[in-house]
Amino acid sequence: MRPANERGFVVKQLLEQIGLRALRRTDPETAHVLGIKALQNGLAPSPGPITSDRLETHLAGMSLPNPVGLAAGFDKNAQAIAPLSQAGFGFLEVGAATPLPQPGNPKPRLFRLTEDAAAINRFGFNNDGMEVIGARLKSVQSAVPVGINLGANKTSDDRAADFSKVMAHLHDVVDFATVNVSSPNTEKLRDLQGPSALAALLAGVMEERGTTPVFLKIAPDLSESEVTDIASVARNAKVDAIIATNTTLAREGLRSVQAGEAGGLSGQPLFIQSTRVLAQLSAQVDIPLIGVGGVSSAQQAYAKICAGASAVQLYTGLVFGGLSLVGEIARGLDRLLARDGFASVSDAVGSRREDWL
Ligand code: FNR
Repeated sequence: MRPANERGFVVKQLLEQIGLRALRRTDPETAHVLGIKALQNGLAPSPGPITSDRLETHLAGMSLPNPVGLAAGFDKNAQAIAPLSQAGFGFLEVGAATPLPQPGNPKPRLFRLTEDAAAINRFGFNNDGMEVIGARLKSVQSAVPVGINLGANKTSDDRAADFSKVMAHLHDVVDFATVNVSSPNTEKLRDLQGPSALAALLAGVMEERGTTPVFLKIAPDLSESEVTDIASVARNAKVDAIIATNTTLAREGLRSVQAGEAGGLSGQPLFIQSTRVLAQLSAQVDIPLIGVGGVSSAQQAYAKICAGASAVQLYTGLVFGGLSLVGEIARGLDRLLARDGFASVSDAVGSRREDWL
């Protein structure tokens, strides 16, 4: 007979499969709320942070048990950090948090594109605000590093200042903070990616960070020259890592009926586009990179690392594969590194960048 903890794990996996099937028939936003509730009630796989000598890695001064992270937007209000930190991830990013709480865009605002293994969202930074999120972050125990995604209020008359405000309020309760000027769902937010606006915004955030590492998250819908401009601003501002990428406005090659919905597209159709931007950045900067966009297998996580990422994150893959995917990806990555003779994640970073340029 299997040991009790392994039986518990198998039962949770079975429950997860049944739950996922039921959730897929539910409206996507309600399904997500139920998913967070299930996590809070201990109904998710909890193998603990998965690690090995090969998987253990360092990123911007943080020590990670493995390089597979949770992308921003899944736990917007920092309500499930403790169970998520036991789900196998090497690090978590929660938020986006804005200075004031805000409701976000009208519903429906999240769409599942099943035939494309993708999602479209136009949430528009719905969140409980930095005070409430900060209190949760302060009181929670996490087994892995936790970062906060910084956002701006829709009605703010100084959006750049919003990023510094949230940074000032939260810097001592997080392990890193991400400047997110790449969400497509707050009108004109992406304008802050322009070189002079971005340089000023980052300078403001850097002033408030204390010793907390600051990451910059960029959009996939940038030309090569825009990527070059951002790389140079990031270098001058001394950001600690760049996250590539957020969701896309592109809609090529989709089959699902919801393909025409407004918002940011994530999941499989984003994989190639986001990995190209990652490789372009990798050729231009020495700053550590985090690859996000369409990761739903160990092979895809490994491909991003070989394209130049020091770590990866995922969100949409979990909608279709459930949280047990995290362990599969981390363990599979370990095997792929071993297969190719890499002693560590960092040895593989950028080893196949040329394939993407
Ligand atoms: C997101 N994403 C996101 N990113 C961010 O920087 N701040 C945010 O608040 C959110 N919110 C959000 C909500 C929803 C519903 C989705 C699907 C995505 C983007 C996310 O972190 C990631 O960059 C992209 O989704 C691409 O990765 P995946 O989903 O293809 O693995």
